[in-house]
Amino acid sequence: MIKLTINNKKYNIDVEPDMPLLWAIRDIIGLTGTKYGCGEGLCGSCKVLLDNSPVQSCVIPVSAAIGKEILTIEGNSKNLQLLQKSWMELNVPQCGFCQPGQLIAATALLDKNENPTDKDIEEEMIGNICRCGTYQRIKNAIHRTVELKNQQS
Ligand code: FES
Repeated sequence: MIKLTINNKKYNIDVEPDMPLLWAIRDIIGLTGTKYGCGEGLCGSCKVLLDNSPVQSCVIPVSAAIGKEILTIEGNSKNLQLLQKSWMELNVPQCGFCQPGQLIAATALLDKNENPTDKDIEEEMIGNICRCGTYQRIKNAIHRTVELKNQQS
């Protein structure tokens, strides 16, 4: 049995320790918001946070997540929720496929940098490919999230 903590909820799953974490999250646990993109850790669609650090869940084994906190797009972090609000306000998604990974990468960015510059955003988000080219709207939405946070405080 492998014990996982995802979005503050505990799961016991009967899988091989070398199963990719993405398979466990999507196919075994049923949290399908995290997407399978390239399967090689190159596109960012499968990103989740592992103890607040972004990882490509298609290329790491489920055993690497034991004893750690996993945050997926279905989770409840404050930054993630505010980002989702800005994403909707600015109509960021086009086809939408890459967006869960984009939002998770943006969450990791805002968790460590409260007011990122365009350059900070480009550097953090470089591993997240959007074939629809929503990069400028993503950048605008991250800046909008900072504004929303400042209005709340
Ligand atoms: Fe279509 Fe990014 S919105 S791939």
